[in-house]
Amino acid sequence: MERHFRVWRGDSSGGEIQDFDVEVNEGEVVLDIIHRLQATQTPDLACRWNCKAGKCGSCSMEINGKPRLGCMTRMSTFEEDETVTITPLRAFPIIRDLVTDVSFNYEKARETPAFAPPPGVKPGDYRMQQVDVERSQEFRKCIECFLCQNTCHVVRDHEENKPAFSGPRYFIRAAELDMHPLDDRGDRKEYAQASQGLGYCNITKCCTEVCPEHIKITDNAIIPMKERVVDRRYDPLVWLGRKIFRRDQLESSPAGSARESMAQSTSTGVTGVAAGIGPSGARPAESPPLNVDGRLDVAEMVAMQAGGPSPFGDDQEFPLPEGGITYRHPEPDKD
Ligand code: SF4
Ligand code: SF4
Ligand code: FES
Repeated sequence: MERHFRVWRGDSSGGEIQDFDVEVNEGEVVLDIIHRLQATQTPDLACRWNCKAGKCGSCSMEINGKPRLGCMTRMSTFEEDETVTITPLRAFPIIRDLVTDVSFNYEKARETPAFAPPPGVKPGDYRMQQVDVERSQEFRKCIECFLCQNTCHVVRDHEENKPAFSGPRYFIRAAELDMHPLDDRGDRKEYAQASQGLGYCNITKCCTEVCPEHIKITDNAIIPMKERVVDRRYDPLVWLGRKIFRRDQLESSPAGSARESMAQSTSTGVTGVAAGIGPSGARPAESPPLNVDGRLDVAEMVAMQAGGPSPFGDDQEFPLPEGGITYRHPEPDKD
């Protein structure tokens, strides 16, 4: 049957949503429709894709305002008379049509310290428990589609946050390495908090909602990392340790030396104090804000800053409205 599509066309200087009527057949996905458009009406429509199997992460786009993979979005999920609007990822600069410049993500990847096994451990010297393998296996499923990065309101509507915020994809990388028993860096959490901007995340779970690999980004990576940061800063035993041990003893410990070993951001435009970099070259550690009762704010499903209008017209609001979410938070205790 013929279906109505609206597709954003343009480049970095501007563009518009154009209307098309395209043939749709049973079993097709949105990427098939884009290919048919290219074959029949718009041969110059730019769109990235590669595997058409949900594994390469190239065909990320916004479909009816929701970040999705074009090759994994079945046409049968829409009503028969529903107009399907396709726009590029909104958090990254436009190159042309549906193709955006996602190099922000690669800059953040470069900044994340690599896996660091202890010196002298040779292949075969070390055995990982199955439970440790399974814990980080989930994070290895990431296909780098950057839908989570595009969805996160910290950068989606606030370009100015980009220099100091690595985003959910790199929080799972930090968590994976922090959970790795063979990783010798003891400062992954401090690094995430101070250099990757973990404190900006207010656990709205929008990133989890759009991940095509169903990685529990917030529950299994971000929240455990935040808990460990808080343990370090507010645990009374850690506080006592800081009172008992001399500063030089603490500074020589892995945690104590963490601040000095934190890398500065190398992202474009990140400089000095504005980027959170202190005089020593390390970013000062930020802690999440506390309520008046001295407890951490439970900010789930509440965005601290209002979102801006979509530059592409039709938009999906984040956090998703109640009916659109596929997970449920536990009901708060009435007592
Ligand atoms: S939970 Fe929300 S704020 Fe935190 S990284 Fe995910 S989308 Fe961003
Ligand atoms: S975590 Fe999920 S949404 Fe984010 S880049 Fe990886 S696969 Fe894509
Ligand atoms: S084309 Fe590879 S994920 Fe869609």
